[in-house]
Amino acid sequence: MDPSEPLLSQLIWIESPTNPTLRLIDIPRIVAIARAHPSHPLVVVDNTFMSPFYSSPLLQDADIVIHSLTKYINGHTDVVMGAAILPKHHTALYERLAFLQYTIGAIPGAYDSWLAQRGAKTLPDEGARAERAVGRPGTREEPLRQGGHLPGPSFASTM
Ligand SMILES: Cc1ncc(COP(=O)(O)O)c(C=O)c1O
Repeated sequence: MDPSEPLLSQLIWIESPTNPTLRLIDIPRIVAIARAHPSHPLVVVDNTFMSPFYSSPLLQDADIVIHSLTKYINGHTDVVMGAAILPKHHTALYERLAFLQYTIGAIPGAYDSWLAQRGAKTLPDEGARAERAVGRPGTREEPLRQGGHLPGPSFASTM
């Protein structure tokens, strides 16, 4: 994206890492480009494959973080669910999305919610187990906050 080009988009959607190529996106760079543009597009980050264990895009100033809870967060393959997470300062946007969710009826069931919460409670253990399995600990948040990339064979390139 060239910051001098007119940008009419209202929203930039990032998936990091991308599925299926596991390309890691430089979120702070995208956020900086979005903030500099006159149309002030929202930056939405699909953090599904990093999981909150490894990355917190809200700390990198993203506007909305999306997760497929179906995958790591639930972790038991018995729920199909997603979540949109907003920072506190986005009150109006939160209320708009909550209204749409309520009126459209995209409300998760109580039992599914309990299952997803159960999975979320063991997410740190699953992360630690995965690190032991690949023999490569200590790749959590810090390099991402700095806008870097994760070293290693799984994460081949940055944008
Ligand atoms: C990055 C990413 N986000 C979200 C989804 C949606 O997941 P689901 O509909 O299974 O919860 C997928 C599905 O593969 C995905 O790869």
